[in-house]
Amino acid sequence: MKLPPSSSSSSSSSILRKNRLSPFLFTLLAFIVFVTILYSEDFSCIFSQLEYSSLSASPNSISRINKNKKLPFAIGETEDGCDVFSGRWVHDDSRPLYEEEECPYIQPQLTCQKQGRPDKDYRQWRWQPHGCSLPSFNATLMLETLRGKRMLYVGDSLNRGQYVSMVCLLHRLIPENAKSMETFGSLTVFTAKDYNATIEFYWAPFLLESNSDDAVVHRISDRVVRKGSINKHGKNWKGADIVVFNTYLWWMTGLEFKILQGSFDDEVKDIAMVSTEDAYRMGMKSMLRWVKKNMDPKKTRVFFTSMSPSHQKSIDWGGEPNMNCYNETTMIEDQSYWGSDSRKSIMEVIGQVFRRSKAPITFLNITQLSSYRKDAHTSIYKKQWSPLTAEQLANPVSYADCVHWCLPGLQDTWNELLFAKLFYP
Ligand SMILES: *[C@@H]1O[C@H](CO)[C@@H](O)[C@H](O)[C@H]1NC(C)=O
Ligand SMILES: *[C@@H]1O[C@H](CO)[C@@H](O)[C@H](O)[C@H]1NC(C)=O
Ligand SMILES: *[C@@H]1O[C@H](CO)[C@@H](O)[C@H](O)[C@H]1NC(C)=O
Ligand SMILES: *[C@@H]1O[C@H](CO)[C@@H](O)[C@H](O)[C@H]1NC(C)=O
Repeated sequence: MKLPPSSSSSSSSSILRKNRLSPFLFTLLAFIVFVTILYSEDFSCIFSQLEYSSLSASPNSISRINKNKKLPFAIGETEDGCDVFSGRWVHDDSRPLYEEEECPYIQPQLTCQKQGRPDKDYRQWRWQPHGCSLPSFNATLMLETLRGKRMLYVGDSLNRGQYVSMVCLLHRLIPENAKSMETFGSLTVFTAKDYNATIEFYWAPFLLESNSDDAVVHRISDRVVRKGSINKHGKNWKGADIVVFNTYLWWMTGLEFKILQGSFDDEVKDIAMVSTEDAYRMGMKSMLRWVKKNMDPKKTRVFFTSMSPSHQKSIDWGGEPNMNCYNETTMIEDQSYWGSDSRKSIMEVIGQVFRRSKAPITFLNITQLSSYRKDAHTSIYKKQWSPLTAEQLANPVSYADCVHWCLPGLQDTWNELLFAKLFYP
């Protein structure tokens, strides 16, 4: 086993040279070597824990450790101690990074301009961390890195939005006849033929098996998730080189959640009601176990995107009662803003689970920075699958979507952060 580099070994060797190994020093040295070997396993555990629990440890210790142990795909590192998720939005006329009509892969639920959104300012903001600048998104580098590889987003419709954003950020580099997007059940695959690369999305809103897994018909109000079932979907994720998970919104049905102990085929179903936090923790732990078992930390990278905030109640930001993100065109200025839709207790569960885990996952903490962006939702500017009633039309607030985000827009920043953490961890 390789010993962890420590200052004690280098300083003792210089003592050695000077003193020609006096018996006392020899004993001391032997003792140090013995202790180091004895505890090296613990040391390496501590090291990997620090490295992998990313933001929960101090950013300083993480970048120091990364110098010793390079992560796959890394080409540099973020400035010491810079938390890229803590910062502010600055106006940037060079944005958006692509045009809505130039990217044919955006679902009509997210093409806000086409659906009549009158303002455009929401597309022109750049995230500026307090401690450093984000590297600019280099589509050539990203696509070259994906050569012969498979990048996979797994989760719900918010992760699908981030997936489409990534495809839009890259597709311009690929000629028309050398790319395609196809859907096979739960799996959507974008192929860059000349690169032998795929960027994929897999629908699994709970990651585990649930009664909401149908990629098309999944609006079930009485949601049930089956305990210990991650391999049901996980078998389809094997062999991916970069995986980006998310899961949050679908767990938010109330204070309690239904967990199925046996199988969905059982005649009498054994269902336990547990707190939403415990249910979510169970899901997170299953994900981490799957990652530990199936992803090689020497060759692959895994990301987890934190809760995507929604803006359903304008009283949260001091607006009129009974309003939401509808008609909002400016962001929230209060740096400490945290909406009632983002459960702090769930963020704590995420923090706890990641801190205790040794699975190599990088946490994309996008919740706070997105919570300022009440202007960035699709609101009423999305394709409606069923015609709106006269009652709805008279009150647009009633059908505004304050969960999903227009593209181009906020989710491009999530991918810029992913880019930063992939190449400059
Ligand atoms: C983007 O990445 C490519 C491939 O690594 C590199 O050749 C190019 O110089 C980069 N462009 C910029 C603007 O950094
Ligand atoms: C294409 O990439 C896959 C991995 O995604 C690899 O197994 C295969 O060998 C590659 N094919 C070529 C022709 O490079
Ligand atoms: C929308 O916002 C504009 C400008 O802030 C305001 O004049 C208008 O009354 C608002 N519309 C509704 C329906 O609230
Ligand atoms: C994510 O970032 C926010 C704000 O920067 C912070 O309050 C929160 O604790 C972070 N979450 C985790 C799990 O690190």
